[in-house]
Amino acid sequence: MSHSILRNKGTLLLGDDKVSVIRAARIIQNGGLVAFPTETVYGLGAAATDAQAVKRIFKAKGRPSDNPLIVHIADIEQLNAVVKTISTRAFMLAEHFWPGPLSLILPRADKIPAVVSAGLPTVAVRMPDHQVALDLIRAAKVPIAAPSANRSGRPSPTSFRHVLEDLAGRIDAVIRSDTCPIGLESTVLDLTGPRPVILRPGGVSREELEAVLNCRVPILGLNKVSGIPHSPGMKYRHYSPQAPLVLIAGPAKRRLLLIESIVESYRRQGLSVGLLNSAIQEYMPLKAGPEMLAAHLYDSLRQMDHRDVDLILAEETEIQGLGLAVMNRLRKAATRILKV
Ligand code: TXA
Ligand code: MG
Repeated sequence: MSHSILRNKGTLLLGDDKVSVIRAARIIQNGGLVAFPTETVYGLGAAATDAQAVKRIFKAKGRPSDNPLIVHIADIEQLNAVVKTISTRAFMLAEHFWPGPLSLILPRADKIPAVVSAGLPTVAVRMPDHQVALDLIRAAKVPIAAPSANRSGRPSPTSFRHVLEDLAGRIDAVIRSDTCPIGLESTVLDLTGPRPVILRPGGVSREELEAVLNCRVPILGLNKVSGIPHSPGMKYRHYSPQAPLVLIAGPAKRRLLLIESIVESYRRQGLSVGLLNSAIQEYMPLKAGPEMLAAHLYDSLRQMDHRDVDLILAEETEIQGLGLAVMNRLRKAATRILKV
């Protein structure tokens, strides 16, 4: 890609070539905000050691200040600058899953300002599995704090176009790329308690974690059993398109009957319904497995906005592997869940 000086409402559009990434790294070093691709979703990055820069992230996203960020590193040695102590378990997980979609919650090092973690004594850290992200962190020579690069409450971005829809004019630069292959955020695993707990299902499945840890790994808040959000991000409405989203659960045949009747009644009223699972499957004519659903979920939610539908219908999927994270996002995006 050429080293263009394209801008969108003042936000610099950078290529993903070496020169552009160095330019992006300078912006980070000077306290600016750069959106960059990772293997999960786009991140909105600032120097994790710069409290002022990190505050700008919260402002640009409209993110509540009590929702902590994830710190991204490029080398295992960088972990020492981010966390106070590394347990054997943490080290083993890092060795096995990094670079990759697993964020570990560990005790926060003093060098990382409290604002990064919304005042918590802990910090989330991960090493992304994306060449551009790794190049950026290395060139900036500092760990990068980055939440997903969307406006708070919106579906996470998996393309620079999504980032611009939400944040053009509010951030300094975005690195252009269309590749966030997983399409859903990292798994957040709390390692600060007596046993590991999944705070947010994501790119690394519960089954994979259990195989490596050789024990059961509970998922917090999976069924909303307690009202207390342990991962602060859990209490806010998330991933929301503009139209109401109804999630339909139950046997496939009954789901289909209900969908047909809802679509028919909307049509009679001159209203349109967007079918989320069908929209996702348009990407692939074969039966979409959880990987396919994950990879296209957020883009499809945004497409529903562009098509200006009056209602979005989504169908429940199996909760094995990545399916658990897909269902978690659908439940949070849903305004209603109908069981048939
Ligand atoms: O894949 C990802 O995780 C992407 C890419 C950019 O790395 N990032 C991302 O960040 O999804 P964000 O900010 O959208 O989500 C971070 C989640 C939130 O649910 C937050 O509450 C939780 O991680 N979290 C961060 N630090 C935490 C901490 N110290 N304790 C508990 N939860 C924490
Ligand atoms: Mg997010």
